[in-house]
Amino acid sequence: MHCRLTASFRYSACLAILSAATALAQHSTEAIHVDDVSHIFRIDAADTTYEFGVNEDKRLQTIYWGERLSEKDHPQPPKAAPGVASFDSTRNTTPLEFDAWGGGLYVEPNLKVTFPDGNRDLDLRYIGYSTRDGVLSVQMKDISLPVAVTLQYKVDEATGIVGRRALIKNETAKPFVAESASSATWNLPRGTNYILRYLSGRWAGEWTVNDQTVKPGKTILESRRGTTGSQNNPWFSIRKNDTTEENGDVWFGGLAWSGSWQIAIEQDAVQQVRITGGYNPFDFGYHLKAGGMLETPWFYAGHTSHGLGDASRRMHHLEMDTLVPRAPHERPRPVLYNSWEATEFKVNEAGQEALAEKAAAIGAERFVMDDGWFGMRNNDHAGLGDWTVNPQKFPNGLKPLIDKVHSLHMDFGLWVEPEMVNPDSDLYRKHPDWVLNFAGRPRTEGRNQLVLNLAREDVRQYVYSSLDKLLTENDIAFFKWDYNRNWSEPGWPAVAPDEQKNVYVDFIRNFYSILEELRKKHPNIEIESCSGGGSRVDLGVIHLTDEVWPSDNTDAFDRLRIQYGFTQAYAPGIMMAWVTDSPTWVNQRTLSLPYRFLSSMQGSLGVGANLTKFTSEELETSRKMIAEYKNLRETVQRGDLYRLISPTDGSEASVTESVSRDRQQAVLFAFLHSSTELYSYPRIFLRGLDPDRVYTLRAIEGKANSDTPTSATGSYWMHRGIDVDLRGDFQATAFVLQGASH
Ligand code: DGJ
Repeated sequence: MHCRLTASFRYSACLAILSAATALAQHSTEAIHVDDVSHIFRIDAADTTYEFGVNEDKRLQTIYWGERLSEKDHPQPPKAAPGVASFDSTRNTTPLEFDAWGGGLYVEPNLKVTFPDGNRDLDLRYIGYSTRDGVLSVQMKDISLPVAVTLQYKVDEATGIVGRRALIKNETAKPFVAESASSATWNLPRGTNYILRYLSGRWAGEWTVNDQTVKPGKTILESRRGTTGSQNNPWFSIRKNDTTEENGDVWFGGLAWSGSWQIAIEQDAVQQVRITGGYNPFDFGYHLKAGGMLETPWFYAGHTSHGLGDASRRMHHLEMDTLVPRAPHERPRPVLYNSWEATEFKVNEAGQEALAEKAAAIGAERFVMDDGWFGMRNNDHAGLGDWTVNPQKFPNGLKPLIDKVHSLHMDFGLWVEPEMVNPDSDLYRKHPDWVLNFAGRPRTEGRNQLVLNLAREDVRQYVYSSLDKLLTENDIAFFKWDYNRNWSEPGWPAVAPDEQKNVYVDFIRNFYSILEELRKKHPNIEIESCSGGGSRVDLGVIHLTDEVWPSDNTDAFDRLRIQYGFTQAYAPGIMMAWVTDSPTWVNQRTLSLPYRFLSSMQGSLGVGANLTKFTSEELETSRKMIAEYKNLRETVQRGDLYRLISPTDGSEASVTESVSRDRQQAVLFAFLHSSTELYSYPRIFLRGLDPDRVYTLRAIEGKANSDTPTSATGSYWMHRGIDVDLRGDFQATAFVLQGASH
């Protein structure tokens, strides 16, 4: 029997379902091969091979993950590693794909269960596999109890990135509690020369890149906040210590989950590095009914031998071509205007219309009204939860403003924060029991608001129908979906005490289901995931939203570092970046308007300045920059990003280059913090161009040195490079390289 497992996550079509019982000796598929004699599973996609098999103990063991192996190479079935004396049994020293807590397991378990009779031991062994719709499902079962775990694998052919998750089924007659449940463990080749890169941050300071040597013991990246959080982002990369931005091995990945999560990076007793990720075990306890199933989130990971830059580009391709709702992401992100920094809560019909006129005149394609339009929302103390238009601010509803926006040839977007409620709101007065809380205990507020318990069906229904009503009654093209605090007191008094912790999973599943249902009923809607900035950016939310807001920090200089961190894991095409007023509220730093535009043009361009205060000269500069952007946005949003000079570690320079997929166009952005001691700006060596094609250089802003040719081959630009004329403080320049058609 021949099963063809195509590599596309989205459009895959497996032609047959296999079972261990009926399978022939060898199944070769496009990407996934199963050898039924040796019980070896091999995934070959792009230039990557991922391989695991069944060892003599019937446990699933990683064999290989890295540069693609030749088809002539047939590794032997894996052998369990010996333990270390009497202290570390073989389960602690063998690189297993997924192991439950039991026996003497001390490394991070993938699953830990408490049964009603007090037993907490689980021992999973391989029993068979099946394939369907491009997904390989490998089944394991406990040695005596009817607890089944299915490990699922899928692969993206273009990038070699593998997606993994586990399905945990309770086939016993009674409920049990899963005290921890992760999606997968990724095992690296044994070694001690690894460097971990991860992202950390806080409000207005997200996306800091951290590098640290992997040492014996464990590093935990996590959120215990009920949401993704910005303190850590659910992404990692691990490289050999001689790897650079351009060369060398990198293993990298991200979790598709917007609730509390954990990724543990562990170097074990025999110097193996394991990366285990899934639900955060802290305060976890999923009550799984008899016959029930717990799905863990997809955990995606890949390998490249072409450095950190290529690892990022693979993530970007996965996101833009496969994960985002309309993948492949062909509709360019429109240039939007957002009213928040101009008006804050002081929105009204006349004020918004005045802004809309200016926004349209400079070339915006979407007008977004931010916070303040609903209920008694005059500041952040009241109104959240009451999703009806404020009659003082909009006496005739939203229609006049929306009509005006349409007459200016823009579409209309609206801010919402659906999972939150202010105690000072009609909703809370009516349903004080709808928020996360422990009965009789204080309810901690953040920004004067509480978190609605979306795990409750009535709350889910309320949130869905409020948003559905807004979309049905108004011509709204876009929601900016905000989320401005983390959880506290995560109780769910309406259900039995032993079911309350299910909130960690059920809340997020309902959040996803609302997004899915809204998109189904209103197929043209586009959504931005915002969480007071970049606190809800992950591969799960990206699957259901069209763009994300990386940070409330809109200082164009700070954004260079923020964008450098963001693009480690996420694509410029989903990264919304506004041009705002100067000096910025963040640092009181004054930056020129071209500098601010060029900083934002490296992502999905928006404008958030108070345009009614712009001079006619500033409006004209804005119009020109937006017109430029529209000609190059396809390259910036969907092309390949090369981070040529990093703005971190005290660097005075920051340079990025985007190259279109067909290598016909490249866009170069260069920024100077401060020139010192008569030094010239570093020469810029481009990357990713077609070496034989001739590219014409054109400045968008600033200029190259006078000895720069106006056209030269890709090879010239990559090897001779460009000298740019940047001197002073906070200077910026940008160029387009347009390739001749072949
Ligand atoms: C936080 C967001 O990040 C801002 O852009 C703005 O929408 C405010 N919330 C509104 O309250």
